[in-house]
Amino acid sequence: MDNAIVERMRTLLALLRAHNHAYYVADDPSISDFEYDQLFAQLLALEAEHPQLTQADSPTQRVGGKAIDAFSQVAHQVPMLSLGNVFSEAELAAFIERIEQRILHANSNNLGNGIAYHVELKLDGLAVALHYNHGKLVRALTRGDGAVGEDITHTVMTVRNIPKLLLGENVPAQLEVRGEVLMPKKGFAKMNAALAATGSKTFANPRNAAAGSLRQLDANVAAKRPLAFYAYALVDALAHNLTTQSQSIDYLASKGFDIAPCRSVQTSLQALQQAYQGILAERPALPMEIDGVVIKVDDLRLQDQLGFISREPRWAVAYKFPAEKALTVVDGIDWQVGRTGMVTPVARLQPVSVGGVTVSNVTLHNMDEIARLDIRIGDTVSVYRAGDVIPKIEKTWPEFRPAATLPVRLPSHCPVCASAVELAEAEAQARCTGGLQCRAQIVEAIRHFVSRKAMDIDGLGERWVEALVQQKLIASAADIYSLHTQQAALLGLEKMGDKSLANLLQAIDNSKKTTLAKFLYALGIRGVGESTAQSLAQHFKSLPLLREATQEELLRVADVGEVSAMWIVDYFAKPFYSRMIDALLAAGVELAVPEVLAEQALAGQSWVLTGTLSQLSREQAAERLQTLGAKVSGSVSAKTSVVVVGDNAGSKLAKAQALNIPQWTEAQLLALLETHQLYP
Ligand code: IVH
Repeated sequence: MDNAIVERMRTLLALLRAHNHAYYVADDPSISDFEYDQLFAQLLALEAEHPQLTQADSPTQRVGGKAIDAFSQVAHQVPMLSLGNVFSEAELAAFIERIEQRILHANSNNLGNGIAYHVELKLDGLAVALHYNHGKLVRALTRGDGAVGEDITHTVMTVRNIPKLLLGENVPAQLEVRGEVLMPKKGFAKMNAALAATGSKTFANPRNAAAGSLRQLDANVAAKRPLAFYAYALVDALAHNLTTQSQSIDYLASKGFDIAPCRSVQTSLQALQQAYQGILAERPALPMEIDGVVIKVDDLRLQDQLGFISREPRWAVAYKFPAEKALTVVDGIDWQVGRTGMVTPVARLQPVSVGGVTVSNVTLHNMDEIARLDIRIGDTVSVYRAGDVIPKIEKTWPEFRPAATLPVRLPSHCPVCASAVELAEAEAQARCTGGLQCRAQIVEAIRHFVSRKAMDIDGLGERWVEALVQQKLIASAADIYSLHTQQAALLGLEKMGDKSLANLLQAIDNSKKTTLAKFLYALGIRGVGESTAQSLAQHFKSLPLLREATQEELLRVADVGEVSAMWIVDYFAKPFYSRMIDALLAAGVELAVPEVLAEQALAGQSWVLTGTLSQLSREQAAERLQTLGAKVSGSVSAKTSVVVVGDNAGSKLAKAQALNIPQWTEAQLLALLETHQLYP
């Protein structure tokens, strides 16, 4: 037997056991569900290949949890089992195929055609079984290990939307309802903000918050938590004269239970796939976290006929959403050189799907980040996509580190121009000292110059700049404006036709009319971002005056500190840039300085935009707020005047709530802009 396989299975077992304990017993999981699923699947596959190595107590042989001793343990009359997962339409098709085969096989009368499926949200909370005796809630149990659960009646009694007495006349003597206790997103954000404000430990996600709240010995703690219950199953519904899952859900609603939204009945694979897509699109707007949909055979008799295999029913499946976190391996570290010479490490990954998008590169920012994550080539890492779209590495998995790896070292020379790379003492950031000798710096500086927020030359995208520099058609931003004299050479470039050339030259021409602020930003002076460029333009109102400005004069500008003042003076003193600016002006670049509204209604204020706005882009909103004199910042602090909250706002909203900063809706912002004639 291959020792490596035995070793690997042992590692997986140990990891899964540790995580099971952290998840089910301590309510403090160390990995995401997806990572757990991946480890679990790896172990399952190895066990299938080597059944003789399967341990009787392997987590694959039973449902995860084990009841902890603090609560009294009660056996479930009907086991509370788990659900199998599918992740794609093809896997869903196979699931349906298996069902139809079985039903067809069992019922020669062709019942298999047109099987109806009930589609529900897969709620991300804690499964709970509620027992009613003559309409009165008498007991609540967790799932535990599926066979034996924990008695959490005392905390469940505090969940407001759980009926303590069932509605209606005809209440059965015994009734068991199953569903999910969860913490709605809003309540979760509020609670965590409050915990953070008092310096207490926050919860990793709403599911742990719900589980942690219910598995409290003290019901008073649970009572203060914003919990909610949604019913999704009635045990032994056939005995209550109900014949489908949809009927039993309607029945539960009539007895006073809240039912999660978005449920439907579908009868084809295509319709199921559509329902799944629809719910995926709806997900951000839902009040609770979900991690997929659950698809159940609607007919309860068919459910019985199909039955269970080991831990899962054959008649239901969870169709999970694409993982927002995934494990992959670091194949290498590339070093990218930016426009100011910054040398940035980028991890090259084995491509992996994260939230439905394939990720193969992740920036590591600097050497400190590499040290913090202790990343080495060959390491297994978990990748996630933060609130926005940018993928990040969450952590390295030392358990899976191959033997004989070495820590990542900063290259001593620039990978592009071979100049020395310098790491300033105080900065973690390394820089290529090649300056204008370094092709990477030239290319990046020009890319920045043409970018949307700068000179906005549409059609001179990433690829072209590289090609034009490569072909020696341009060596600085100024050369862009003499490209019209090089048409023959341009037409020689791969994929450059008459039409794209005409468009490109037109876009270059159009860009000549711009503002001083955009131009200053486009120059890419160190320390001069969009907002500083705006302040400089408003202060000096003229490029010649700014070019002559001394460090002291620059320090009078609101946004400019000692260091940026020095960088600005340095920049204009360099003959290369001086000549470039002269050439740009000679080529006909015109710099307007729009009058800022006299009233400056928001002067001195600092605004933050968060979440998705529907009527304006964030940039448009920021530009208009700046026109009114506000500074628009990327992070919330005690000095923030107002936070404008769009859809799916995350941590910035939580911080604003914790700091008691006024929160505005988009509608309020639009109304303000309208009074200043900045909208529509
Ligand atoms: S049905 C045997 N319906 O998912 C049927 N479960 O992975 C199993 N869950 O323990 C339960 N939403 O905590 C069902 N609409 C839904 C659900 C759901 C979430 C959870 C539940 C269960 C786990 C199984």
